[in-house]
Amino acid sequence: MLMLVLAVYACRREPAFGGRIIASANRGANRGRRGDVADLTKDLAQGPGAVLAFGPQPEKSMLSYRHAFHAGNYADVLKHAVLLELLSYFNRKDKPWHYIDTHAGGGCYALDSEQAGKTAEYVDGIARLWDRDDLPEPLAAYRAAVAQFNPHGRLLFYPGSPALAMTAARTQDRLRLFELHPADFESLERTFASEAERVQCRKADGFAALKGLLPPPSRRAVVLIDPPYELKEDYRRVVDCLKDALRRFPTGTYAVWYPLLARPEARALPARLAEIGADSWLDVRLAVRQPPRDGFGMFGSGMFIVNPPWVLPERLEAMMPWLVETLDALRGFAAERDWEQFHTPKNLAMALSGEAGEVIEHFQWLTAEQSADLAPEVRDAVALELADVLLYLVRLADVLDVDLVAAAERKLVINAERYPVDRARGRSDKYDRL
Ligand SMILES: C[S@@+](CC[C@H](N)C(=O)[O-])C[C@H]1O[C@@H](n2cnc3c(N)ncnc32)[C@H](O)[C@@H]1O
Repeated sequence: MLMLVLAVYACRREPAFGGRIIASANRGANRGRRGDVADLTKDLAQGPGAVLAFGPQPEKSMLSYRHAFHAGNYADVLKHAVLLELLSYFNRKDKPWHYIDTHAGGGCYALDSEQAGKTAEYVDGIARLWDRDDLPEPLAAYRAAVAQFNPHGRLLFYPGSPALAMTAARTQDRLRLFELHPADFESLERTFASEAERVQCRKADGFAALKGLLPPPSRRAVVLIDPPYELKEDYRRVVDCLKDALRRFPTGTYAVWYPLLARPEARALPARLAEIGADSWLDVRLAVRQPPRDGFGMFGSGMFIVNPPWVLPERLEAMMPWLVETLDALRGFAAERDWEQFHTPKNLAMALSGEAGEVIEHFQWLTAEQSADLAPEVRDAVALELADVLLYLVRLADVLDVDLVAAAERKLVINAERYPVDRARGRSDKYDRL
């Protein structure tokens, strides 16, 4: 289901209890409502139920992940906008900083490449921001940085974290980049070939290599820890790596990106990071859809920032509600086209009924047998009509602030009471005739 977008910022500025939680949940009419932490807890705790997997389950290989497939997606938007906020805060002082990227990726990505084109994830990410003239200030800065790689105005390239960090770097600042995948490493080296003085790229395990750079000579550093999480052990290594880094350099600013996923390690990660004992941290999450009920698939992502600049919560509050609205799978589609004005409950209900009619058209005049044996192309056309019905239904529920899944669960209980098995079995009569 696509109707819910949720952004949560949980922020602790004191070492002990005294935690401050700021949450913003968007649900239909209550857009921009604050202080709704219970919603998040419920949504994240609800869980997907059981995942049943039979037979041997292969672990993915360490290097099966390629960021080119995901460049510029909604997770990159959050990660990179936050990263630029951190660096722009560091730029308030002339003193040099180090930027360390433990998992740097390829540096810069062509959005018309075969890889990026295959998934086109950027369409629901950076592309949603590209032509908007109402960007809040932190996002305007992020888009301006991406625009440096697209000087002719068309969105053709997406800069990864090292390339974006480079847009903030001054002559005195230094970038230290780690990447293990041979092809991505080659691309990274190529991207920074002319910057050997400021940028060092190493084909090494970023988790292990980080310790060798801490503390940096300037005692000022932003460290991005952004593993693929294809391997279960990445979740443990992130925690160990951060613990070790904080022992060596307690005042560094560390940003850990993590996926919102149903798998237990992913659900436990933010709490495990919070338990490390950093003096100050901030956890910002953006969910672009409800957690899938089958338990599969990412529904958002988060950034856990240790030692965040004091201005960061305020900056995030300026951008997150807008991002929530824009990156939501359905609302963003309507907003991009300025269709919200047409999406009144009345119009949506009529459109829903019209789309249901289009489903029926395919079956009109068919015998029962023919309707159960559709030609592949007709079945495909029906699938698309069903999708329209679903999309209008979800959108209608969204504008009416109806939790569809909860309503369906409630209706199933009502139906079970109306049609008791002993009276309804084998009969098609309405409940008041049973
Ligand atoms: C999520 S991508 C990085 C994206 C990049 N930080 C950005 O935001 O543009 C993760 C990268 O880590 C690389 N990788 C995987 N394990 C690694 C390790 N142990 N050390 C360094 N790089 C690793 C993968 O090849 C992949 O390119």
